[in-house]
Amino acid sequence: MFKKKKGLILSLTVASSILLATGCGGTEKSSTDSGKGKDGDLPAVGATIYKFDDNFMSYVRRAMETAADGKVNLMLNDSQNDQAKQVEQVDTLIAKGAKSLAINLVDPKAAQTIIDKAKVKDIPVIFFNKEPDASVLAGYEKAYYVGTTSSESGVIQGELIAKAWEANKAKWDKNGDGKIQYVLLKGEPGHPDAEARTKFVIDTVKEKGIEVDELALDTGMWDAMKATEKMDAWIAKYNEDIEFVIANNDGMALGAIASLEKAGYFSGDKFMPVVGVDAIPEALEMIEKGKMVGTVLNDAKNQGAATVQLAANAANGKDVLEGTEWKLDDKKAVRVPYVEITKDNIQVGKDAYK
Ligand code: GAL
Ligand code: CA
Repeated sequence: MFKKKKGLILSLTVASSILLATGCGGTEKSSTDSGKGKDGDLPAVGATIYKFDDNFMSYVRRAMETAADGKVNLMLNDSQNDQAKQVEQVDTLIAKGAKSLAINLVDPKAAQTIIDKAKVKDIPVIFFNKEPDASVLAGYEKAYYVGTTSSESGVIQGELIAKAWEANKAKWDKNGDGKIQYVLLKGEPGHPDAEARTKFVIDTVKEKGIEVDELALDTGMWDAMKATEKMDAWIAKYNEDIEFVIANNDGMALGAIASLEKAGYFSGDKFMPVVGVDAIPEALEMIEKGKMVGTVLNDAKNQGAATVQLAANAANGKDVLEGTEWKLDDKKAVRVPYVEITKDNIQVGKDAYK
């Protein structure tokens, strides 16, 4: 499953060197091989991001770097969507003297492997963004999670869809049958966010008393380009039958919009309601332009900051919550709330991504 085709590795490498060249990337922020860089005298936190080439995670990463500045030596790695690579990176981070780990898993099922390595050296692990199974987290006293309640984003997105549909169904119910004919772009299968969003968004719309027809559902792997391809195919197949585009994240919503624009939508009176999750700046722009109905704020800034705060405390041998406002639930998780975002409260989204 984690084997990558050569072409993909190559294109990822090219993409990251472009990012490096433009000053947006880098594989490790502040450490050198000896573990001593600008922040070399600060306690070392070893961190991984499942892949730098993920729109939302690039904002989480930025928040982590900001929170780490002057407090810890954050050794940040791009796992390039390769779990085997990430495991090697964890070995290296431990060898370099990481006092705690902040891990964005590639595969949510790989948490135990990471814990096994950390446990031997008594190193605390803060998982973030991809939630491990509760039983795995419970099995190591020094393991924690920073993220969200995945289902909440689906519920909020469903409520948003229901409200918008009720207000606009005279126009949006193109075939006049009272039901929403939708297509759904799902995130990575098996990812707790993707699974929960897909289920809860539709459950919630139905609970609001609105009937739905699923024309198509497929994964776009959180990715704009993959979503454009899917949407191209769906437009070719269903065209005017599609009444709503539901995306598990904004990246894919933006990809769908690109496809819809090619097909003549968003000009004249040809319109398609599109919703996403994350509230990344590009999506907020689309909402302002009237090309997206709304999204759900996934608070990158607070999730990134909380991850580093807990990891820094752990690295210093303190209680992970010391000096923070965060609380742990019964699963040893800090959960940052989601917020509905539409044109009416767009500033809330903007402030979160400043
Ligand atoms: C989700 C986010 C997606 C993607 C994913 C990666 O929380 O909504 O856009 O970044 O995490 O794990
Ligand atoms: Ca209809």
